[in-house]
Amino acid sequence: MLVGEAPGETEIHNGIPFSGRAGKKLMEFLEGLGLTREDVYITSAVRSRPYKWKEKRDRQGKVEMKKYNRTPIMGEIIAHAPILDYEIQQVQAPIIVTLGNIGLQRLVGKTMKITDVHGQVLQQPVLQINEENSFEWSDNNYCIFPTFHPAALLRDESKKISFFRDLKEAVNKVKG
Ligand code: URA
Repeated sequence: MLVGEAPGETEIHNGIPFSGRAGKKLMEFLEGLGLTREDVYITSAVRSRPYKWKEKRDRQGKVEMKKYNRTPIMGEIIAHAPILDYEIQQVQAPIIVTLGNIGLQRLVGKTMKITDVHGQVLQQPVLQINEENSFEWSDNNYCIFPTFHPAALLRDESKKISFFRDLKEAVNKVKG
């Protein structure tokens, strides 16, 4: 199971998770490990597109307002939490690979940072939303495996090696 951050513009149009630029990168890496998107369950912390309006200037200098992706806020993460909790309980994935800080911290809290814990197996409870809309730890342990968000690879090529190594490790763990 892969847990990302939130859909972007492409995903909102076609309903296919990780089908935009970052998603294509992710799929290349999965294919490099002999997997396709059918082999993994893909979801994210938030299921609507967080966006902000910003001015965009075209080549003629004409300004128009455009939607840009942004990081989801806590209210959005809380609003979508029951969906992810349900998926985690239903899918019972042998390993949950979190992609980036939002997915990671949604499941294990803000004390963990992707740069510190990527590539490590975290065998522990996950955060689930309760009826008071606050997070509490699950009774069961899950196998969490954090790595970078593929969008980070588009910004910083040096993360590619770690990303591939992490994913390979996760796949080997599932295959046993
Ligand atoms: N980032 C995500 O977390 N999910 C997507 O579907 C696309 C980008």
